[in-house]
Amino acid sequence: MKNPIYLDYNATTPIDKEVAVEMISIIQNHYGNPSSSYEIGRYSKKAIENARKQVADLINAQPEEILFTSCATESNNIAIQGIAFANQAKGKHIITSIIEHPAIIEVCKYLESQSFEVSYLPVDTGGRVNPQDVEKAIRPDTILITIMHANNEVGTIQPISEIAVIAKKKNILFHTDAAQSIGKIETDVEKLGVDLLTLAGHKLYAPKGIGALYVKQGIKIQKIMYGAGQEKGIRPGTENLVHIVALGKACEIAQRDFDKNSATMLSAKEKLLKGLQIQFGEKIKVNGDPVHCLPNTLSIAFDNVEAHTLASIISNDIYISTGSACHANSVEISSVLKAMNLDLRTAVGTVRISTGKHTSSEEIETAVKIISNTVTKLTEH
Ligand SMILES: Cc1ncc(COP(=O)(O)O)c(C=O)c1O
Repeated sequence: MKNPIYLDYNATTPIDKEVAVEMISIIQNHYGNPSSSYEIGRYSKKAIENARKQVADLINAQPEEILFTSCATESNNIAIQGIAFANQAKGKHIITSIIEHPAIIEVCKYLESQSFEVSYLPVDTGGRVNPQDVEKAIRPDTILITIMHANNEVGTIQPISEIAVIAKKKNILFHTDAAQSIGKIETDVEKLGVDLLTLAGHKLYAPKGIGALYVKQGIKIQKIMYGAGQEKGIRPGTENLVHIVALGKACEIAQRDFDKNSATMLSAKEKLLKGLQIQFGEKIKVNGDPVHCLPNTLSIAFDNVEAHTLASIISNDIYISTGSACHANSVEISSVLKAMNLDLRTAVGTVRISTGKHTSSEEIETAVKIISNTVTKLTEH
């Protein structure tokens, strides 16, 4: 049986072959504790510092500004709780958007239970936050703004640098969750103007179980974990050497191959959309912002088709995800699609197709055929 076509790169990515080679070399040859002062420990420490520089280079930061974590969720927790608790004497108000990943929303909800107040900003029908809404939401006690760089479900890119100007003017710290944008669009902390930035290895062809947090030099965060002094004491615990080296290598490759990769993702997405539009014309609707969208993400609704039924029928041939969750007798629409004011029919018919650097033209041609045939069968009666 041949492997199904993978078109769910926003969920996770396969490990890059070059990354795997580095990982295997570490697994087989290097086990020293980076805190040990003898040769094999020093080797591990050097490998970590090399990876730190590779991550920093990708986002135009300094190596000292990078902390290694276990995933984007952990980076977001350290950033948001860390800033909130370090600055609570100044104020207890945080601004975020309604379409953030649960790895932000749930942290904010936790902080609400700790007497912080959170403003959840709305988005327009394309899924964008209006910077003016950010400005209006700022209060004298606002200590943090956290708005994602790009959305995981619809691919909408937020006006981060515009929001950063507002945050800076009001002297408020600004964090962005860049788990979905890294390696797909330029993610330069200087140009974006952010103070903290989250990234995840497994969205970038590194393994699951590794993430990083950029914290601009001079910014104080209160630790939320206690232990030995690794990662400036903010993320204590013996370092995950294999995965840290893997993330470093993945960042180096992402930087090296950036133009090629984003062109591949975009042409695959465009070919897919064109193929489906030729078949279905007005019967499909593309969700998200038509201009500010990730090059790899296509959130698309088929008229009169239940996305779950479609995804499940084609799942032996193509892997995609849906914009709603199916329960026993009901369908729960994703909060992102709801926030964008999508009508129920469109939301129920929405699938998320996300291309990657390995997506080939042949895969797209096959995918168009399979999806078209299935949608046609589902809608003819
Ligand atoms: C925007 C965004 N933030 C955070 C996460 C959480 O990543 P992880 O599960 O690796 O912690 C994801 C994962 O889908 C994401 O898309």
